[in-house]
Amino acid sequence: MTGDDKSMSVKDFVLKKLEENRGIPLSGEAIANALSVSRAAVWKAVHALEEEGYHIEAVPNQGYTLCTDNDLLSAQGIRPYLAPSPQLREIRVYPCVPSTNQEAKRMALDGANQGSAVLAEEQSAGRGRMGRSFFSPRGNGLYMSVILRPRTDASNAVLITTAAAVGVCRAIETVTGRQPQIKWVNDLYLDDKKICGILTEAVTNFETGSIESVVVGIGVNFKGSPDRLPEELRQKAGFLYPDEPPGTTRNHLAAEIINQLCILCDTLESRSFLPEYRSRSMILGEKIRFLRNNLWSDALAVDIDENGGLMVESAGGIRETLNSGEVSIRKLDGK
Ligand code: BTN
Repeated sequence: MTGDDKSMSVKDFVLKKLEENRGIPLSGEAIANALSVSRAAVWKAVHALEEEGYHIEAVPNQGYTLCTDNDLLSAQGIRPYLAPSPQLREIRVYPCVPSTNQEAKRMALDGANQGSAVLAEEQSAGRGRMGRSFFSPRGNGLYMSVILRPRTDASNAVLITTAAAVGVCRAIETVTGRQPQIKWVNDLYLDDKKICGILTEAVTNFETGSIESVVVGIGVNFKGSPDRLPEELRQKAGFLYPDEPPGTTRNHLAAEIINQLCILCDTLESRSFLPEYRSRSMILGEKIRFLRNNLWSDALAVDIDENGGLMVESAGGIRETLNSGEVSIRKLDGK
Protein backbone atom coordinates (compact mmCIF):
# COMPACT_ATOMS: atom_id res chain seq x y z
CA MET A 1 0.00 0.00 0.00
CA THR A 2 1.33 3.49 -0.85
CA GLY A 3 1.12 6.58 1.34
CA ASP A 4 -1.70 7.84 -0.90
CA ASP A 5 -3.63 4.61 -0.42
CA LYS A 6 -3.62 5.07 3.37
CA SER A 7 -5.52 8.34 3.09
CA MET A 8 -8.16 6.84 0.77
CA SER A 9 -11.60 5.73 1.83
CA VAL A 10 -12.26 1.97 1.71
CA LYS A 11 -14.51 2.53 -1.31
CA ASP A 12 -11.84 4.49 -3.22
CA PHE A 13 -9.21 1.87 -2.43
CA VAL A 14 -11.49 -1.00 -3.52
CA LEU A 15 -12.24 0.83 -6.77
CA LYS A 16 -8.53 1.46 -7.33
CA LYS A 17 -7.73 -2.24 -6.90
CA LEU A 18 -10.66 -3.33 -9.08
CA GLU A 19 -9.71 -0.87 -11.85
CA GLU A 20 -6.08 -2.02 -11.73
CA ASN A 21 -7.31 -5.59 -12.21
CA ARG A 22 -10.27 -5.25 -14.60
CA GLY A 23 -11.75 -8.60 -15.49
CA ILE A 24 -9.62 -10.42 -12.90
CA PRO A 25 -11.14 -11.63 -9.60
CA LEU A 26 -9.74 -10.05 -6.43
CA SER A 27 -10.15 -11.74 -3.09
CA GLY A 28 -12.19 -9.76 -0.57
CA GLU A 29 -9.90 -11.06 2.14
CA ALA A 30 -6.75 -9.80 0.40
CA ILE A 31 -8.29 -6.33 -0.03
CA ALA A 32 -9.44 -6.33 3.60
CA ASN A 33 -5.96 -7.33 4.82
CA ALA A 34 -4.23 -4.69 2.68
CA LEU A 35 -6.38 -2.03 4.30
CA SER A 36 -6.61 -3.59 7.77
CA VAL A 37 -10.40 -3.49 7.64
CA SER A 38 -13.01 -6.23 7.90
CA ARG A 39 -14.30 -8.21 4.92
CA ALA A 40 -17.72 -6.75 5.73
CA ALA A 41 -16.27 -3.27 5.17
CA VAL A 42 -15.00 -4.38 1.76
CA TRP A 43 -18.39 -5.88 0.91
CA LYS A 44 -20.05 -2.59 1.91
CA ALA A 45 -17.69 -0.66 -0.36
CA VAL A 46 -18.40 -3.03 -3.26
CA HIS A 47 -22.10 -2.57 -2.67
CA ALA A 48 -21.74 1.23 -2.66
CA LEU A 49 -19.85 1.04 -5.97
CA GLU A 50 -22.62 -1.09 -7.46
CA GLU A 51 -25.11 1.54 -6.37
CA GLU A 52 -23.05 4.09 -8.30
CA GLY A 53 -23.43 1.96 -11.44
CA TYR A 54 -20.35 -0.30 -11.46
CA HIS A 55 -20.92 -3.88 -12.61
CA ILE A 56 -19.04 -6.05 -10.13
CA GLU A 57 -19.29 -9.83 -10.10
CA ALA A 58 -18.88 -11.65 -6.80
CA VAL A 59 -17.70 -15.21 -7.39
CA PRO A 60 -17.60 -17.51 -4.36
CA ASN A 61 -14.05 -18.54 -3.38
CA GLN A 62 -12.56 -16.18 -5.97
CA GLY A 63 -13.62 -12.69 -5.04
CA TYR A 64 -14.82 -9.56 -6.79
CA THR A 65 -14.35 -8.82 -10.49
CA LEU A 66 -14.92 -5.47 -12.16
CA CYS A 67 -16.64 -6.37 -15.43
CA THR A 68 -14.80 -5.12 -18.50
CA ASP A 69 -17.88 -3.29 -19.87
CA ASN A 70 -17.77 -0.68 -17.08
CA ASP A 71 -17.31 2.82 -18.42
CA LEU A 72 -17.77 5.18 -15.51
CA LEU A 73 -15.23 7.97 -15.28
CA SER A 74 -13.04 7.89 -12.20
CA ALA A 75 -9.58 8.94 -11.08
CA GLN A 76 -8.93 5.31 -10.11
CA GLY A 77 -9.86 4.20 -13.62
CA ILE A 78 -7.60 6.81 -15.25
CA ARG A 79 -4.47 6.46 -13.10
CA PRO A 80 -3.44 2.95 -14.20
CA TYR A 81 -2.98 4.30 -17.76
CA LEU A 82 -1.08 7.48 -16.85
CA ALA A 83 2.61 7.65 -17.71
CA PRO A 84 4.76 7.96 -14.58
CA SER A 85 5.47 11.52 -13.49
CA PRO A 86 7.67 12.95 -10.74
CA GLN A 87 4.92 15.44 -9.93
CA LEU A 88 1.66 14.70 -8.17
CA ARG A 89 -1.24 15.14 -10.58
CA GLU A 90 -4.72 15.77 -9.30
CA ILE A 91 -7.50 14.04 -11.18
CA ARG A 92 -10.98 15.25 -10.24
CA VAL A 93 -14.12 13.65 -11.60
CA TYR A 94 -17.57 15.18 -11.11
CA PRO A 95 -21.05 13.92 -12.00
CA CYS A 96 -21.92 17.38 -13.35
CA VAL A 97 -20.25 20.79 -13.46
CA PRO A 98 -21.10 23.89 -15.49
CA SER A 99 -17.78 23.61 -17.36
CA THR A 100 -14.65 21.53 -16.66
CA ASN A 101 -12.55 24.39 -18.07
CA GLN A 102 -13.90 26.69 -15.40
CA GLU A 103 -13.07 24.15 -12.65
CA ALA A 104 -9.63 23.51 -14.09
CA LYS A 105 -8.82 27.22 -14.19
CA ARG A 106 -9.65 27.40 -10.49
CA MET A 107 -7.41 24.39 -9.80
CA ALA A 108 -4.61 25.94 -11.85
CA LEU A 109 -4.80 29.16 -9.83
CA ASP A 110 -4.62 27.04 -6.66
CA GLY A 111 -1.32 25.63 -7.94
CA ALA A 112 -2.26 22.24 -9.46
CA ASN A 113 0.64 20.65 -11.32
CA GLN A 114 0.94 20.04 -15.04
CA GLY A 115 -1.11 17.01 -16.09
CA SER A 116 -3.78 17.58 -13.45
CA ALA A 117 -7.25 17.25 -14.92
CA VAL A 118 -10.95 17.77 -14.32
CA LEU A 119 -13.55 15.49 -15.88
CA ALA A 120 -17.31 15.40 -15.74
CA GLU A 121 -19.99 12.98 -16.83
CA GLU A 122 -22.05 15.98 -17.86
CA GLN A 123 -21.67 19.76 -18.24
CA SER A 124 -24.56 22.10 -17.66
CA ALA A 125 -22.88 25.04 -19.39
CA GLY A 126 -20.20 23.49 -21.63
CA ARG A 127 -18.32 26.15 -23.57
CA GLY A 128 -17.06 26.09 -27.14
CA ARG A 129 -14.81 28.36 -29.13
CA MET A 130 -15.91 31.87 -30.12
CA GLY A 131 -18.40 32.11 -27.26
CA ARG A 132 -20.47 29.18 -28.51
CA SER A 133 -21.94 26.57 -26.19
CA PHE A 134 -20.88 22.91 -26.27
CA PHE A 135 -23.61 20.25 -26.04
CA SER A 136 -22.45 18.01 -23.16
CA PRO A 137 -25.11 15.46 -22.15
CA ARG A 138 -24.53 12.60 -19.70
CA GLY A 139 -23.55 9.17 -20.89
CA ASN A 140 -22.02 9.54 -24.30
CA GLY A 141 -19.26 12.09 -24.05
CA LEU A 142 -15.83 12.64 -22.62
CA TYR A 143 -15.60 16.15 -21.20
CA MET A 144 -12.24 16.97 -19.69
CA SER A 145 -9.82 19.82 -19.07
CA VAL A 146 -6.09 19.36 -18.62
CA ILE A 147 -3.78 21.83 -16.89
CA LEU A 148 -0.49 22.49 -18.65
CA ARG A 149 2.37 24.72 -17.60
CA PRO A 150 4.35 25.46 -20.77
CA ARG A 151 7.94 26.44 -19.99
CA THR A 152 8.16 28.95 -22.78
CA ASP A 153 7.18 32.54 -23.51
CA ALA A 154 3.68 33.62 -24.51
CA SER A 155 4.54 33.75 -28.23
CA ASN A 156 5.23 30.00 -28.24
CA ALA A 157 2.53 29.14 -25.69
CA VAL A 158 -0.19 30.03 -28.24
CA LEU A 159 0.95 26.97 -30.19
CA ILE A 160 -0.57 24.80 -27.49
CA THR A 161 -3.86 25.00 -29.39
CA THR A 162 -2.21 23.47 -32.46
CA ALA A 163 -0.26 20.92 -30.42
CA ALA A 164 -3.37 19.87 -28.51
CA ALA A 165 -5.09 18.84 -31.74
CA VAL A 166 -2.14 16.58 -32.56
CA GLY A 167 -2.10 15.19 -29.01
CA VAL A 168 -5.78 14.27 -29.00
CA CYS A 169 -5.46 12.68 -32.47
CA ARG A 170 -2.55 10.60 -31.24
CA ALA A 171 -4.45 9.55 -28.12
CA ILE A 172 -7.53 8.54 -30.12
CA GLU A 173 -5.38 6.60 -32.55
CA THR A 174 -3.43 4.81 -29.78
CA VAL A 175 -6.52 3.79 -27.85
CA THR A 176 -9.05 3.14 -30.62
CA GLY A 177 -6.99 2.56 -33.77
CA ARG A 178 -9.08 5.24 -35.53
CA GLN A 179 -7.42 8.13 -37.32
CA PRO A 180 -9.20 11.46 -36.91
CA GLN A 181 -8.35 14.43 -39.11
CA ILE A 182 -7.89 18.01 -37.99
CA LYS A 183 -9.97 20.91 -39.23
CA TRP A 184 -7.97 24.03 -38.47
CA VAL A 185 -7.52 25.02 -35.83
CA ASN A 186 -8.42 22.16 -33.57
CA ASP A 187 -11.67 20.42 -34.43
CA LEU A 188 -11.29 16.69 -34.98
CA TYR A 189 -13.25 14.84 -37.63
CA LEU A 190 -13.88 11.19 -38.35
CA ASP A 191 -15.75 10.07 -41.46
CA ASP A 192 -16.46 13.74 -42.21
CA LYS A 193 -18.23 14.33 -38.88
CA LYS A 194 -16.94 16.43 -36.01
CA ILE A 195 -16.23 14.11 -33.09
CA CYS A 196 -14.16 16.41 -30.89
CA GLY A 197 -13.78 20.09 -30.11
CA ILE A 198 -10.97 21.68 -28.14
CA LEU A 199 -11.08 24.96 -26.22
CA THR A 200 -7.76 26.27 -24.94
CA GLU A 201 -7.78 29.00 -22.32
CA ALA A 202 -4.82 30.79 -20.76
CA VAL A 203 -4.70 31.41 -17.03
CA THR A 204 -2.84 34.66 -16.60
CA ASN A 205 -1.21 36.13 -13.56
CA PHE A 206 -3.28 39.20 -12.80
CA GLU A 207 -0.30 41.16 -11.45
CA THR A 208 2.40 40.35 -14.02
CA GLY A 209 0.11 39.66 -17.00
CA SER A 210 2.17 36.55 -17.81
CA ILE A 211 0.68 33.19 -18.78
CA GLU A 212 0.82 31.01 -15.66
CA SER A 213 -0.79 27.98 -17.13
CA VAL A 214 -3.03 26.82 -19.92
CA VAL A 215 -6.23 24.84 -19.62
CA VAL A 216 -6.96 22.58 -22.58
CA GLY A 217 -10.63 21.61 -22.63
CA ILE A 218 -11.54 18.61 -24.74
CA GLY A 219 -15.02 17.41 -25.61
CA VAL A 220 -15.23 14.06 -27.40
CA ASN A 221 -18.51 12.62 -28.67
CA PHE A 222 -17.55 9.14 -27.52
CA LYS A 223 -20.46 6.83 -28.20
CA GLY A 224 -24.03 7.32 -29.25
CA SER A 225 -26.47 7.52 -32.03
CA PRO A 226 -26.42 10.59 -34.28
CA ASP A 227 -30.24 10.72 -34.26
CA ARG A 228 -30.06 11.54 -30.53
CA LEU A 229 -28.26 14.78 -31.35
CA PRO A 230 -30.19 18.04 -31.45
CA GLU A 231 -31.44 18.86 -34.94
CA GLU A 232 -28.91 21.65 -35.49
CA LEU A 233 -25.92 19.31 -34.81
CA ARG A 234 -27.13 16.21 -36.66
CA GLN A 235 -25.60 17.08 -40.04
CA LYS A 236 -22.23 18.05 -38.67
CA ALA A 237 -21.50 16.05 -35.52
CA GLY A 238 -20.67 12.37 -35.17
CA PHE A 239 -19.34 9.90 -32.61
CA LEU A 240 -16.12 8.00 -32.14
CA TYR A 241 -18.26 4.87 -31.71
CA PRO A 242 -21.55 5.56 -33.51
CA ASP A 243 -22.70 2.05 -34.24
CA GLU A 244 -20.87 -0.50 -32.18
CA PRO A 245 -19.97 -1.01 -28.50
CA PRO A 246 -16.75 0.88 -27.70
CA GLY A 247 -13.58 -1.19 -27.85
CA THR A 248 -12.11 0.91 -25.04
CA THR A 249 -13.11 3.03 -22.05
CA ARG A 250 -13.33 6.78 -21.65
CA ASN A 251 -10.92 6.46 -18.69
CA HIS A 252 -8.26 4.96 -20.96
CA LEU A 253 -8.76 7.62 -23.61
CA ALA A 254 -8.68 10.38 -20.99
CA ALA A 255 -5.38 9.10 -19.57
CA GLU A 256 -3.81 8.87 -23.01
CA ILE A 257 -4.92 12.43 -23.80
CA ILE A 258 -3.23 13.63 -20.59
CA ASN A 259 -0.07 11.67 -21.48
CA GLN A 260 0.12 13.08 -25.00
CA LEU A 261 -0.59 16.68 -23.97
CA CYS A 262 2.16 16.55 -21.35
CA ILE A 263 4.65 15.23 -23.94
CA LEU A 264 3.68 17.86 -26.54
CA CYS A 265 3.81 20.71 -24.04
CA ASP A 266 7.60 20.37 -24.03
CA THR A 267 7.86 20.62 -27.82
CA LEU A 268 6.29 24.05 -28.31
CA GLU A 269 9.60 25.77 -28.97
CA SER A 270 10.92 23.15 -31.36
CA ARG A 271 7.53 22.92 -33.14
CA SER A 272 8.33 19.30 -33.94
CA PHE A 273 4.61 18.44 -34.05
CA LEU A 274 3.86 20.78 -36.97
CA PRO A 275 4.61 18.28 -39.79
CA GLU A 276 2.23 15.83 -38.11
CA TYR A 277 -0.38 18.56 -37.75
CA ARG A 278 -0.10 19.30 -41.48
CA SER A 279 -0.34 15.66 -42.45
CA ARG A 280 -3.46 15.21 -40.30
CA SER A 281 -5.11 18.32 -41.72
CA MET A 282 -8.33 17.81 -43.66
CA ILE A 283 -8.28 21.24 -45.28
CA LEU A 284 -4.81 21.72 -46.76
CA GLY A 285 -5.13 21.84 -50.54
CA GLU A 286 -8.91 22.33 -50.23
CA LYS A 287 -11.11 25.30 -51.02
CA ILE A 288 -12.45 26.89 -47.84
CA ARG A 289 -14.75 29.72 -46.84
CA PHE A 290 -13.75 31.83 -43.86
CA LEU A 291 -15.61 34.33 -41.72
CA ARG A 292 -13.70 37.36 -40.53
CA ASN A 293 -15.19 40.57 -39.18
CA ASN A 294 -18.66 39.33 -40.21
CA LEU A 295 -17.53 38.84 -43.82
CA TRP A 296 -17.30 35.51 -45.65
CA SER A 297 -14.45 35.02 -48.17
CA ASP A 298 -13.38 32.05 -50.29
CA ALA A 299 -9.78 30.87 -50.58
CA LEU A 300 -7.52 27.88 -51.04
CA ALA A 301 -5.97 26.50 -47.82
CA VAL A 302 -2.28 26.37 -48.65
CA ASP A 303 -0.24 25.66 -45.53
CA ILE A 304 0.09 25.96 -41.76
CA ASP A 305 2.82 28.42 -40.82
CA GLU A 306 5.35 28.11 -37.98
CA ASN A 307 2.95 29.81 -35.56
CA GLY A 308 0.00 27.57 -36.37
CA GLY A 309 -1.61 30.21 -38.62
CA LEU A 310 -3.52 29.07 -41.69
CA MET A 311 -2.01 30.37 -44.95
CA VAL A 312 -4.64 30.89 -47.62
CA GLU A 313 -4.61 32.10 -51.21
CA SER A 314 -7.52 33.98 -52.70
CA ALA A 315 -8.69 33.65 -56.33
CA GLY A 316 -6.63 36.75 -57.20
CA GLY A 317 -3.46 34.97 -56.01
CA ILE A 318 -3.12 37.05 -52.84
CA ARG A 319 -1.73 35.10 -49.90
CA GLU A 320 -2.45 35.87 -46.27
CA THR A 321 -2.30 34.12 -42.93
CA LEU A 322 -5.38 33.63 -40.78
CA ASN A 323 -5.06 33.51 -37.01
CA SER A 324 -7.28 31.23 -35.01
CA GLY A 325 -8.78 33.80 -32.66
CA GLU A 326 -10.25 35.92 -35.41
CA VAL A 327 -11.80 33.58 -37.96
CA SER A 328 -14.12 30.66 -38.37
CA ILE A 329 -13.77 28.42 -41.42
CA ARG A 330 -15.68 25.77 -43.31
CA LYS A 331 -14.75 23.53 -46.19
CA LEU A 332 -16.54 24.48 -49.37
CA ASP A 333 -18.29 21.09 -49.45
CA GLY A 334 -20.09 22.25 -46.32
CA LYS A 335 -18.07 20.76 -43.39
C1 BTN B 1 -15.50 23.79 -29.77
O1 BTN B 1 -15.78 22.83 -30.49
O2 BTN B 1 -15.86 24.93 -30.03
C2 BTN B 1 -14.70 23.53 -28.52
C3 BTN B 1 -15.46 22.67 -27.56
C4 BTN B 1 -14.70 22.37 -26.28
C5 BTN B 1 -15.56 21.58 -25.32
C6 BTN B 1 -14.82 21.14 -24.11
S1 BTN B 1 -15.74 19.98 -23.16
C7 BTN B 1 -14.63 20.12 -21.85
C8 BTN B 1 -14.25 21.58 -21.74
N1 BTN B 1 -15.19 22.30 -20.93
C9 BTN B 1 -15.85 23.22 -21.63
O3 BTN B 1 -16.72 23.97 -21.16
N2 BTN B 1 -15.45 23.20 -22.91
C10 BTN B 1 -14.41 22.22 -23.12
